[in-house]
Amino acid sequence: MTTASDSVELTRVGPGTVMGQLMREYWIPALKSSELARGGVPIRLMLLGEKLIAFRDDAGRVGVMDHRCPHRCASLFLGRNEDGGIRCIYHGWKFDVTGRCLDMPNVPPQQDFKHKIRAKAYPSIERGGAVWVYMGTRAKNPPPLPAFEILGVPDDEVGVLLIQRDCNYLQALEGDIDTSHFGFLHAGHVDADALADDDPILHTVAIRTPDYHIADTAWGTTYAGYRAAGPGRTSWRFGNFLFPFWTQVPNGEFGSHVQIRGWVPLDDEHTMYWVLWWKRGKSAMTLQAPSFKDGTPIGGMGRANDFLPNTSDWLGRFRLAANASNDWGVDRTKQRDNSIYSGIESIHLQDQAVTESMGAILDHSFEHLAPSDLMITRTRRRLLLAARALRDKGVAPPGAEDVAVFRDARGGYFVGDDKRGWQDAYAAQLAAASRPHAAALRAGE
Ligand code: FES
Ligand SMILES: [Fe+2]
Repeated sequence: MTTASDSVELTRVGPGTVMGQLMREYWIPALKSSELARGGVPIRLMLLGEKLIAFRDDAGRVGVMDHRCPHRCASLFLGRNEDGGIRCIYHGWKFDVTGRCLDMPNVPPQQDFKHKIRAKAYPSIERGGAVWVYMGTRAKNPPPLPAFEILGVPDDEVGVLLIQRDCNYLQALEGDIDTSHFGFLHAGHVDADALADDDPILHTVAIRTPDYHIADTAWGTTYAGYRAAGPGRTSWRFGNFLFPFWTQVPNGEFGSHVQIRGWVPLDDEHTMYWVLWWKRGKSAMTLQAPSFKDGTPIGGMGRANDFLPNTSDWLGRFRLAANASNDWGVDRTKQRDNSIYSGIESIHLQDQAVTESMGAILDHSFEHLAPSDLMITRTRRRLLLAARALRDKGVAPPGAEDVAVFRDARGGYFVGDDKRGWQDAYAAQLAAASRPHAAALRAGE
């Protein structure tokens, strides 16, 4: 059970909160590299409840900083991106991407004190098509980026997708580690007899009550959902939670499913979903949407996302056209005739609808968790214990310093010998898997 005070600690992410402090120990993806044009206009960016701007100077360097000018707090969003920095339009003070004040033109030269002024800028790095920022206390000597497999893949082989979700990060993230929902929310209308024998969702719909193994790991938590898959065979679906807000889900073939999903809090009530995937892996991001064995597409398994135009608002990027204001487009006819269990068109939108429908921050006191939710309770506990150990004893949370702990984390499905233990089965699959990072190293990249 999650108590009211646990709930507050788990869900609040602003400066000074227990979970906000934990998250600031890690590099955080802030925006796509392609959102920032060299010498282009700044972007408003909300991250962990802080109002920031991001811009790319004319030399191509990225700046991410508090939006308030350190003079009299006019917003640098309105600033002029000029030769080597951003200039505030109020009195003309100018700052480079590191926050250094380069110019103070409204002050006579003998009174100039620009060397004493810094805008509040955060270190940034670009990798995998994303701009990453570090907002923690070690700004002078930040840790390396997390050693996710996907961040070892050459940038041109990495796909990147962002979608804003209008709810707290935790309930959004928990959808990814709640494997039993797949057979209902996404595939409740799918009859196993109508699927080909090698269809990846066959076992999920044949047995809608999977068994589970769950464990703590160096990177966070892991689970395997498993089901009998014919004589001597077991169907495995592995997924992970990785500190502080990442998941890996089993929606791809384990052997090549190099992927990570982030649930990055914009503020307590809005989250940016990130997915970074290897374009050469077999996953829901690269394979065709599933169909019945007669070739007809399965309803509600679409992959398209219909976006509203981005705006310059703090929360105006990558919003879906279907949202709470139009009931996520639920089609009651399709729900009733069971052509789509949920009545909602795409897998992502189905997840978005159920987690947003809980309210901006769900009331944990109203929950009744079941044995199928053990991965969720274990992950909450792991997050809380790590956040409190940081707050009370200054213990670095998992993967904040020892970033290599992420290297062997992978999610995916496979069918294996039913005699093998779950962790053995995982290790054997990983040993046999494509490791693009290792391949890149061999190629000298
Ligand atoms: S408020 Fe920015 S220069 Fe004065
Ligand atoms: Fe889902």
